[in-house]
Amino acid sequence: MDVSQLPLPEGSSGWPIVGEALAFGANPFAFLAERVARHGAVARSRLLDKNLAILAGPEAATAFIDEANVLRAGGLPPHAAALFGAGVVNQIDADAHRRRKLHLMRALDAEALTHYLPEIRARIRARLARWVAAGEVGLQDECIRLTLELTLANFVGIVPGSDAELDRWAKGYQDFGKALFGLPLPLPGTPLASARAFTQDALATFGKIADARRHTPTGDAASRLAASEVDGERLGSADIARELQHLQFAAGGMWGWFGFGAMMLAEDAALANGLRAVAAALPHDPSPRDLLQAGGLIDFVREVKRLGLVIPMTAIGIAQRDFAVAGKRVPQGWLVVWTTLASHTTPGIAPYASPERFDPDRDARGEGAAPHHFAPQGPGEALTSHRCGGVEYSTLVLLQFFTELLRAPALSLPAQDLSQDMSGIPARWRGGLRARFG
Ligand code: HEM
Repeated sequence: MDVSQLPLPEGSSGWPIVGEALAFGANPFAFLAERVARHGAVARSRLLDKNLAILAGPEAATAFIDEANVLRAGGLPPHAAALFGAGVVNQIDADAHRRRKLHLMRALDAEALTHYLPEIRARIRARLARWVAAGEVGLQDECIRLTLELTLANFVGIVPGSDAELDRWAKGYQDFGKALFGLPLPLPGTPLASARAFTQDALATFGKIADARRHTPTGDAASRLAASEVDGERLGSADIARELQHLQFAAGGMWGWFGFGAMMLAEDAALANGLRAVAAALPHDPSPRDLLQAGGLIDFVREVKRLGLVIPMTAIGIAQRDFAVAGKRVPQGWLVVWTTLASHTTPGIAPYASPERFDPDRDARGEGAAPHHFAPQGPGEALTSHRCGGVEYSTLVLLQFFTELLRAPALSLPAQDLSQDMSGIPARWRGGLRARFG
């Protein structure tokens, strides 16, 4: 096939100077989904002065993870790249990426997850007990706090002493997310200015923790990164701090899945009753293996991951050569992104029957099994592509969270606005997802 003869993807360049950056930043979920619905597996857009190819579906995923086609270095806008910091895993390629990812996965491998699980379970139980005692809670804010409690404890051994302290961390990561998708204007009071200040503080804290863990390891991710050696390479404390900041931000979205799954359970009594029986049959303190084999629960978690509005896309890369997707040419030099949500929900693209429907039974029918059919955390494999490093960690956390939720008094949602504001990641429930127990 002569790629140079293929037409460009259909789409729009938007306005002079900004392109479609404002519409993208205002609602990245809808922005990407609309273009995939209109143009299929590949669409064209423009962010500021850069052309962007928006890819969707399994075939496009194969092209996207081929490093001859797309590399990540230089793909993020400079203000976003600088927030993560130079050399962080999401912006490097080839051997350097493989080595860095190997280091990272030592903090997220089976041994590490087994070590983290008792702490995860204890913190989920403690917070859930407070919800049940309160009778009614704003589940969204509570799930944000819970997520931070888990990841700060597991990754950096920090245990905030109050909800107010957790809320300060939460605000920092929320600003971080807004800054990534916003315009690069660091004026006082903007998310970018706040995210920069927050990141500077977090890096200083995490760097000190990395230093301390070299001498006194505790089993947290910082200790595992400090001890890791790959091809004779050890990570410096500044690198560890940047990777920990990236991990904290990346993992911070788990609350969106907690909330979405809770909502699905509250809205479907038959589903909740079936899963309650599964949760009741598990050992009191299930092992990772018990959780992963809890039939029905894992299918539920996969469906939560497929449909929850947490992150709509992978990180952005740059086309290294002209390449073909669905009969269109993605030219060398264009930005390229693969959509996660739209690839799983757009009729005609998503390899699922009635893809917009929440249906945990689809797993049993074999849907999602073929390569790149189920990739809500990015396509490929952790060690050979940029697929999310936290797939197994987040699965385990979700399994334990829903096990505890299903063992608690039944959850219901009082009348409220259940629509979501999709201007940030994850999308937020406008009504705060108020929930009653019992
Ligand atoms: C909250 C739910 C999560 C979602 C929706 C999610 C999704 C994603 C996506 C879409 C990517 C980009 C994949 C790509 O660029 O090809 C990614 C990357 C990454 N995620 Fe997650 N993730 C989540 C949770 C986590 C957790 C819990 C962790 C850590 C425990 C984590 C660690 C990472 C890392 C390290 C990367 C970068 C991988 C690389 O560039 O090689 N994520 N994630």
